[in-house]
Amino acid sequence: MAVLARSILVTGSNRGIGLELVKQLVEMSDPPEHIFATCRDPDGPRGRALHDLADKHPSIHVVQLDTCKPSSIKAAVAKVTEQLKGSGLNLLINNAGIVKPFTALESETPEGMLEVYKTNVVGTMMVSQAFLPLLRKASHESSQKGMSCSKAAIVNLSSECGSITNLLAWEIAHILNYRCSKMPATMTVEEGVQKILDTLSQLSEKDSGTFVDLEGKVLPW
Ligand SMILES: NC(=O)c1ccc[n+]([C@@H]2O[C@H](COP(=O)([O-])OP(=O)(O)OC[C@H]3O[C@@H](n4cnc5c(N)ncnc54)[C@H](OP(=O)(O)O)[C@@H]3O)[C@@H](O)[C@H]2O)c1
Repeated sequence: MAVLARSILVTGSNRGIGLELVKQLVEMSDPPEHIFATCRDPDGPRGRALHDLADKHPSIHVVQLDTCKPSSIKAAVAKVTEQLKGSGLNLLINNAGIVKPFTALESETPEGMLEVYKTNVVGTMMVSQAFLPLLRKASHESSQKGMSCSKAAIVNLSSECGSITNLLAWEIAHILNYRCSKMPATMTVEEGVQKILDTLSQLSEKDSGTFVDLEGKVLPW
């Protein structure tokens, strides 16, 4: 696969799809120079697998980031900015999210619904907003240099419930909003992530604001 981006940040990268994204990104033939692998508790037991991976690959920077906590987001932006030494961030992958088992109408609670909304919608918006200056910087750098592969993009790995980040996609040139619909139950995380990265490498500015499935097919909103 061709180079995807010079610098990539993945939220919720200590397990599941996020961890596998980091694994496959670092194994690419032309890997990103910087992979910011963020998670909410990097020093706890749930951060172990990510640290083990980062120990083998100096391009992986483990950064604490709780997408629901403004102070944590602010500190993560500062850390990433410092590491990038004046360059922008090319790709933000909003992967962190809560996946809850189906709840019947009679047992759903306002607290449960608000928790999902807070994490999957508000958290995603806050992270995208906080990293917007760094994404704009990368977008500006790439248009100045005439680069086609390293523009700036926000990618939301979400189920089909909508996201505020799409609004940001319209606001900034070269931002690509790609959302991944549900993985079939028969697919392994490795296969799913392979498909996400394959599809991602084929999307461009013209796909901004669209909702695509794992095969890259555009779905109606
Ligand atoms: N699996 C699927 O079939 C599927 C389909 C469609 C969409 N998606 C979306 O893809 C994303 C990843 O799915 P997955 O299957 O890998 O889920 P997962 O195994 O449950 O992992 C979720 C990740 O998000 C992190 N996270 C949750 N809340 C967070 C917060 N406030 N701040 C930072 N990190 C937080 C978790 O961290 P902790 O370890 O700290 O909890 C974990 O790393 C989710 O957004 C999900 O909605 C998945």
